[in-house]
Amino acid sequence: MSASAPQPIYLNDYRPPAYRVTHTELKFDLVSSATRVIARLHLERHPERQEGELPLVLDGEQLRLLHIAIDGQALEDDEYDVNESHLTVYRVPSTFVLDTEVEVDPEANTALEGLYLSNGMFCTQCEAEGFRRITFYPDRPDVMATFSTTVIGDKGSLPVLLSNGNPVEQGDLPNGKHFVTWDDPHPKPCYLFALVAGDLQKVEDHFTTMSGRDVTLQLWVEEENLSKTDHAMASLKRAMKWDEETYGREYDLDRFMIVAVNDFNMGAMENKGLNIFNSAAVLTHPQTATDATFQRVEGIVAHEYFHNWSGNRVTCRDWFQLSLKEGFTVFRDQCFSADTNSAPVKRIEDVSFFRTAQFAEDAGPTAHPVQPDHYIEIGNFYTLTIYEKGAEIVRMLRNLLGWEAFRQGSDLYFQRYDGQAVTIEDFVECMAEVSGLDLGQFMRWYFQAGTPEIDAIGEYDYAKGEYRLTLRQRTPPTPDQHEKLPLHIPVRMGLVGTKSGKDLSMTLEGESLGTDAVIHLRDEEQEFVFTDIAEAPVPSLLRGFSAPVKLRFPYGREDLAFLLQHDSDGFNRWDSGQRLALLALDDLIAAHRNGVEKVMDSRVTEAFRGLLTTDTDDKAVLAEMLTLPSEAYIAEQQPVVDVDAIHAARTFVKQALALALRDEFMAVYRANQSDAPYVPEPRQIAQRSLKNVALSYLMAIEDEEAVELARNQFEDGHNMTDVRTALTLLTHSSRGDIADPALKAFGEKWAHDPLVMDQWFSIQVTRPQSDALERVKFLMDHPAFSLTNPNKVRALIGAFAGQNRVNFHRADGEGYRLLADVVIELNKLNPEIAARIITPLTRWQRFDESRQALMKAELERIRAEELSSNVYEVIEKALA
Ligand code: PHE
Ligand code: ZN
Repeated sequence: MSASAPQPIYLNDYRPPAYRVTHTELKFDLVSSATRVIARLHLERHPERQEGELPLVLDGEQLRLLHIAIDGQALEDDEYDVNESHLTVYRVPSTFVLDTEVEVDPEANTALEGLYLSNGMFCTQCEAEGFRRITFYPDRPDVMATFSTTVIGDKGSLPVLLSNGNPVEQGDLPNGKHFVTWDDPHPKPCYLFALVAGDLQKVEDHFTTMSGRDVTLQLWVEEENLSKTDHAMASLKRAMKWDEETYGREYDLDRFMIVAVNDFNMGAMENKGLNIFNSAAVLTHPQTATDATFQRVEGIVAHEYFHNWSGNRVTCRDWFQLSLKEGFTVFRDQCFSADTNSAPVKRIEDVSFFRTAQFAEDAGPTAHPVQPDHYIEIGNFYTLTIYEKGAEIVRMLRNLLGWEAFRQGSDLYFQRYDGQAVTIEDFVECMAEVSGLDLGQFMRWYFQAGTPEIDAIGEYDYAKGEYRLTLRQRTPPTPDQHEKLPLHIPVRMGLVGTKSGKDLSMTLEGESLGTDAVIHLRDEEQEFVFTDIAEAPVPSLLRGFSAPVKLRFPYGREDLAFLLQHDSDGFNRWDSGQRLALLALDDLIAAHRNGVEKVMDSRVTEAFRGLLTTDTDDKAVLAEMLTLPSEAYIAEQQPVVDVDAIHAARTFVKQALALALRDEFMAVYRANQSDAPYVPEPRQIAQRSLKNVALSYLMAIEDEEAVELARNQFEDGHNMTDVRTALTLLTHSSRGDIADPALKAFGEKWAHDPLVMDQWFSIQVTRPQSDALERVKFLMDHPAFSLTNPNKVRALIGAFAGQNRVNFHRADGEGYRLLADVVIELNKLNPEIAARIITPLTRWQRFDESRQALMKAELERIRAEELSSNVYEVIEKALA
């Protein structure tokens, strides 16, 4: 907490550190409320900072300094100064050794940054600036040192003592203690430091690298979770292999460890050789985790592993470069998951999520560029823009260069910058160098916030056999960036002949482009004239979502139904279905608002009938095609969001489709039931998702037979995917309390399993019925709930505020009040989580005046508190 307003930090102010650390020796004596940290730093003056005398300024927060010496000489009181954020030593030699001893209190650490306790186990989280809560240090990523770490702890309660690198020494100590010393030979920034100590069990496996080295793989968990580790281990081995085959990247230590902890702010952390995972992002079992969780775990395990190169060996110069490691690594994990599962479905899922959540961020008060130029609290910048939009930019680079050249650029980047801390510009420069492309204009993607909008129109000239496509781009202003420049936007496209239903050959300015090509929009407006077009086409634009933009084209509903059937691009086939549904939903939203009778668009019904009755071998894609746009995505399209009308319209469409196609849905449900033992492999997952989509339609009309199916599916208890779907459909049903027995049974059966209880909470608080808010309050008193566990906060409060749109936005403002109350509590306990969970309140501009006033009033109420820098920054932006 700070009394004076926190100040922004600017990218332009970057300077290399005055002193760098070449080697770091740490010794931890672990005690719950009073851990001693003894640090010996080998420091030297930075070659680029030779101007005059410079004091040594180290970061340090919440540390009690017990001892300080330079080159073995204890310092006098007037030789240094300590305040709540820094240690300053006024005069130091150009090369020296600094010894400090501090005391920290892991038990009191509810922020979960630095060294803390989770279920009696010690663990650390240092990214971005947590290391300064462990010891005095230049806590910035461009200071890279080798580490030697000795961990001392009670042998009985802390039998396992882990840190980065390789164990080099261990032994017993007096008073029932023992120690292990770890050496990490790879220079690393302190944000990649990790320590874990606790009563843990391991599963072990091996991987032989491409050069034949044996790597020991260990997954450390609490004993009761040993049965939940298979999938993560298998995923890790697949990821290691994939990174060798795809990027030529080999692992570089003798062991790779993953630890699961219950209390963790994020998904997982790529600490060198010792990844620490939120247990929700690593543990799976067919009975406790859904297909989606299995896939998420695989993706996150891969993501953290891939960081070993994209992030650790080559790291970020400063935190403005965060997307250098995150954008690239997300792109890498997306490609890995696409290769391992269904590639089209992976793309559909990623884009659906992106267009809903990242577009909303980019249009809201916290919009920022992928390379921001200032921030107040870096903890607030682990955003969809840095991660997902950053990944889209890397994807565009891959597409612009083609895979071969992109891979050469990647090789050059890893080779040139190995062991260094670099910038986004350095990365893109490698891509420019190997390809000879001019990426100057392209760089604007990193500097400009906001989602570019493309307005497209097309005209076919029968007489000339020409198709003229005009594209006009515009990026709306965002906070602090009013003027935008045109971007270089790759638009992948085809022209689908209306007679043949086939992609037509395209010729542009005399050059033959084939049937599927990328055109480059660079100007504000550009006209593309395709010649020798023998039949009238419907354009298929932005195939595969080739750029992270909003593209408008005045498609008629027949055009969309046509593309849905004929587009050769699977992604755009799906997207045409979404666009068609959105047009129908628009009419129904208007009808709801005007109080007129709702009428279903028969074109949507017929399109669905077609989907349900045509044989397909890609059930995963079919399940996606049958899924209506989410309420959040529909809301994105509306000028003023009317949550009730959106909910009513979407519910109406589901019911209308279910009524018209009941037999078809029933047939699909039955055809995809299976007793086969659960395996999280693509074919089974596809089958389950198709079956469960069918069940969700059948439950939309809630007849006896559907309820019976859901009940049976729940009681069969075959796997969590099926059980959770059934329980959710029963719980979200409007038929009174039909779910109560199932909810009760489920809650009792899984009371001992926090990850399953998270699901139990979420299912209940996302229910559309009007008692949801009361349920949230009721469940906050449940013994399994805790405000200090981020997973619980997300499962209960996050799910309610983020997914239960009709109830969070209740007209009486009670939903807003509840969220603000939680933010005020969490601001004191865990500022990072507090700042994240506010998000839905910051989107007030999107709603009607009365809701705007209620939301702003709650933001003002939060603002009146003594705020952490995290919450302060978000609130100030939201109310600016
Ligand atoms: N760097 C982590 C990742 O991308 C995320 C993270 C950030 C975790 C900050 C903890 C704290 O995988
Ligand atoms: Zn990451």
